[in-house]
Amino acid sequence: MRWNERVKQVLYGGDYNPEQWPEEIWQEDMRLLKEAHINTLTLNVFSWAALQPSEDVYDFTRLDRVMSLVRDHGFKVCLATSTGAHPAWMAKRHPDILRVDFEGRKRKFGDRHNSCPNSRTYRKYAPLLAGKLAEHYRNYDNIICWHVSNEFSSGCWCENCEAAFRTWLQRKYGTLDALNEAWDTAFWSHTFYDWDEIPAPNLLSEYYVYDGRVRTSFQGIALDYRRFMSDSVLECYQLEKDAIRQVTPDIPVTTNMMGLYDGLDYEKWAGAVDVIAWDNYPAPGEEPAKTAMKHDQFRGLKGGKPFLLMEQTPSVTNWQPYGGALKRPGVMRLQSYQAMAHGADSVMFFQMRRSAGASEKLHGAVIDHVGTDQPRVFREVKELGRELDRLGELTLGAESPAQAAILFDWDNRWAIEESAGPSVRLDYTGEVLNYYRAFYERNIPVDVIGTGTALSKYRVVIAPMLYMIKSGFDEAVRRFVADGGTFVTTFFSGIADEHDRIPVGGYPGPLRDVLGIWAEESDALPPGKKNHFQFEGKRYPARILCDLVHTEGADPVAVYEDDFYAGMPAVTVHRFGLGYACYVATSSKPKFYRRLIRRICQEQDIRPVVEPAGKVEATLRINANGRFLYLLNHEEREAAVYAPQDAVDLLTGEHFTAERLVTVPALGVRILFTAAGEITEPGRN
Ligand code: GLA
Ligand code: ZN
Repeated sequence: MRWNERVKQVLYGGDYNPEQWPEEIWQEDMRLLKEAHINTLTLNVFSWAALQPSEDVYDFTRLDRVMSLVRDHGFKVCLATSTGAHPAWMAKRHPDILRVDFEGRKRKFGDRHNSCPNSRTYRKYAPLLAGKLAEHYRNYDNIICWHVSNEFSSGCWCENCEAAFRTWLQRKYGTLDALNEAWDTAFWSHTFYDWDEIPAPNLLSEYYVYDGRVRTSFQGIALDYRRFMSDSVLECYQLEKDAIRQVTPDIPVTTNMMGLYDGLDYEKWAGAVDVIAWDNYPAPGEEPAKTAMKHDQFRGLKGGKPFLLMEQTPSVTNWQPYGGALKRPGVMRLQSYQAMAHGADSVMFFQMRRSAGASEKLHGAVIDHVGTDQPRVFREVKELGRELDRLGELTLGAESPAQAAILFDWDNRWAIEESAGPSVRLDYTGEVLNYYRAFYERNIPVDVIGTGTALSKYRVVIAPMLYMIKSGFDEAVRRFVADGGTFVTTFFSGIADEHDRIPVGGYPGPLRDVLGIWAEESDALPPGKKNHFQFEGKRYPARILCDLVHTEGADPVAVYEDDFYAGMPAVTVHRFGLGYACYVATSSKPKFYRRLIRRICQEQDIRPVVEPAGKVEATLRINANGRFLYLLNHEEREAAVYAPQDAVDLLTGEHFTAERLVTVPALGVRILFTAAGEITEPGRN
């Protein structure tokens, strides 16, 4: 089932904030947006102060005018609830809505995304507004989804949050004995005898600054506070969603998530949204593999279902350090198709018309300050809109088949970030990317999954830096390998349980039997210091951390060359049941990951969707209409790859009857479509 069966085209559009402009301009906007083939507008993202000018007064007149204007012009609407920034009067009258920051300072009114998630005021008025909006606009059949708040974020340490944290803990642990045990409070005399003694962990309590870095003294409380915050904010989302659902039960509800944002456990959030939506703001020069990984992660949150690209900039992202860096001609188009290649069924921008004032007046937009259809950016948006129009609904709902998966777990990420040792160079997302990139470069589809996803549908599962083993996950891994899968994990794995306590019995803890090793010590290497190892006849650097491993049934397939642990294994493979478990005891360079992943995929007979050529990224999506092979050339020179037979390029109309080399222009894109009836050799392109 598609997320919204009523949507018959790739959603193309984005944030439109006409309230920032006099009404004369609105008509002109309609004309220009139509000219650019825009079909969907995200409205009402930041209008709370206008919609509720005081405690008991609601005024939707301006929004009424905007809503009927865009309906009259045939636009679909993604209607936001406006609760991403509260009104000034509300903060003055009900200061509980203001957050307390990590330093313990009560915030004043200002900025946005500024409400305390445990404020009674916020929890009363945000869903009230959402419900009123749903009532008021329930008969607009052009609303295709609700957009709750905007880019939810965590981070409040006020007294209300502290009290709610204690309640959350009571629910989680039941007794103080259990909590003391889980947090290991015998350490540093932290035993709690009363729930009210438990502080919100911030710089006033469990955190300190050492050598310019913020650190916690107590991982248990720090981790639980992160989990609690994510849950608190999720409850706020859910309150708005419930209010909307009562009125418009058939309209999907979502919220826009943010890249690698670490304040919220998106895996937990995924169940609460009807469709995943996220905002893509790659830094200028960000490697395409990293952007691809983020897309795959968001696709993975809902078991591979297509997602919405809710925002991207058509040109510049002014809040970045070099935010004025222009997207080169063709790059916006390339990035748009990259999103679709990885599972997006929309291409949406922030924003439609460039703001006249405040902090986003230098941010990119479809309509620039000049106000005409002349700018390069407008023309590129229009050209892409024309192409997407031609695609119609053909590509919608297509899924991406992957036989390999990479694990990305928020609890584990948080635990590594909060860890006191062994090295400040540990970089969880960086190590995940090291493995991801190796698949990406070979054009091998890979899912990014959480610990809640069944492993059995994959042949290869990679779990980089699996420091924390949540209960039950070791068993899932054991079964996966015993049944014939290949499992890879790395240094700094199998150390702690889900409370961040270390069980006795040696690393990698509950994975010791399946990996067939014992990791005795770990050596942290400062920047510039390296060890080395040879793998399949080639020499690679060992960086960041070197585990000193003894085999217990595993075969060493690479050994360290230097230092007192020269000769000890750097990479091991263990036959376990019908499968293999591989331990990579250190961090290395892309060439090593490439070689390792190539070997593993060969052994498991996992093939690229097309043979790699230059910097052409290739992905496959499949729906009932057929197969879509996306070819994206990230280089500024032409490249050539083998096209499948019986394919048509949906963008140029060219037919390829026999398998042959086709060129992909510099920074260009092809979508080679093979209709369902014409697929002759399943499993091959
Ligand atoms: C975020 C927000 C938008 C806007 C853009 C600018 O994604 O959701 O409101 O501020 O950033 O890049
Ligand atoms: Zn708070």
